[in-house]
Amino acid sequence: MFCRVELRPVADKETIVIMPPTVTSQNRDLDLKHLWHGNLQHRGLELRPPLEMASADGCYVIDSEGRRYLDGMAGLFCVNVGYGRREIVDAVAAQMSQLAYYPLTQSHGPAAQLAGRLAELLPPGLDRVFFTNSGSEAVETALKMARQCARQMHPGENRYKIVARHRGYHGFTMGALSASGQSARRAAFEPLVPGFLHVPPPDPYRCSFCCSQPECSLACADEIDRVIRMEGPETVAAVIVEPVIGGGGVFPAPDGYLERLRAICDRYGVLLILDEVITGFGRTGKLFGFEHGGIRADILTFAKGLTSAYLPLGATVASEQVFSAFEGDTESVKFTQVSTFGGHPSSCAAGLANLEILTRERLWENSASVGAYLLEQLRGNRCPWIAEVRGCGLLIGMELVSDENKTPLSEARMVQLLREFREAGLIIGRNVESAPGYGNVLILSPPLILSREDADTIVATVTRVLGRL
Ligand SMILES: Cc1ncc(COP(=O)(O)O)c(C=O)c1O
Repeated sequence: MFCRVELRPVADKETIVIMPPTVTSQNRDLDLKHLWHGNLQHRGLELRPPLEMASADGCYVIDSEGRRYLDGMAGLFCVNVGYGRREIVDAVAAQMSQLAYYPLTQSHGPAAQLAGRLAELLPPGLDRVFFTNSGSEAVETALKMARQCARQMHPGENRYKIVARHRGYHGFTMGALSASGQSARRAAFEPLVPGFLHVPPPDPYRCSFCCSQPECSLACADEIDRVIRMEGPETVAAVIVEPVIGGGGVFPAPDGYLERLRAICDRYGVLLILDEVITGFGRTGKLFGFEHGGIRADILTFAKGLTSAYLPLGATVASEQVFSAFEGDTESVKFTQVSTFGGHPSSCAAGLANLEILTRERLWENSASVGAYLLEQLRGNRCPWIAEVRGCGLLIGMELVSDENKTPLSEARMVQLLREFREAGLIIGRNVESAPGYGNVLILSPPLILSREDADTIVATVTRVLGRL
């Protein structure tokens, strides 16, 4: 049990007062003793315990000691409509009272209505929704759908390979992790699922393709064409990409990249899976990430902003064409997957209320305008460590280097920086373990309700903290 130690002024001297254990210290004690946190080394954790968050409102979170932070990460890229939306809470409470649970082996209103709402928001022909509990599961589902669909669409071929990109992240389950191009996250669990191939992402700052030419040739997109040809198109089921790589370090697709990708997939009869787990629902300044290229996906994956994380929910949306490959008279062509909790009525009720807020307030527009303002202000910052500020909407990355040879800022300094941001009242993210030696991108992904004043606070904090480097 931890006891809080406070310095109390007593007749102009400071005295140490041992406070009785509080709920906070009890929680911390239980946490350190019993919780297993992902991506955290537990040895010595008592010296740097995780933040214990107690409440939140709008763009701000408050920890159990009463300290307030601007949540520059919207949790984990997910609280799009901001914290404290009563409307969502009420919708969930009402749903729980009426029908706490029923599986989607049968049906219920909230799932049917949310599937219908998604179909309304998406372009025609993308209207078949499979619900899951998380982004990883949405991706896992998409990969399985793509493999089964490719076999059913191309009988006699053996299309099972999936092309993905280095630095992309698609989730922690074995299939989604196999699609992820982040070696440090994969290493401990290899061998992973066979048949996944990786190509370099678009990265104009460290481009290894066409950086010596006056203009971008989209050679990194053509690399996908080359890999499909070399592998044999009759072995390739799908290409999976994030419209903007998020957690891997924020890499927006250059102009024409998504369109080129669509053309390559069409050329070889390969399905295009767009992982919109982060980019969906306004994050990049459009309602969906694919709008940046004006392209059509065969399969889309969603989670995070679908409920703004008020409850867990993921969704895999298939095109009419993909769905029709599963239609038939026999049992053998059905999509063989069941999820107990996927499409939980309460999560779907949260999703419906969340989309009502998001569309009523047109939050992708605020994401676009405040995001552009924030990007411009950060780019105007003269801090020599900031080599590049990139992103779109309210998804922004700042690549930090220590010299003009583009040497990434060291791991130790990045860790220290994040601590200093936290002490300065700003929660900021970074690309942990996305590429060996390149964990040097600070990431901002705040709630989409961020105001210009909040953006100014972020810029002032970044200037102050990086100025001390
Ligand atoms: C693009 C993308 N896909 C999938 C996932 C996995 O989502 P989850 O953490 O909900 O399983 C993430 C998580 O950050 C992600 O960024």
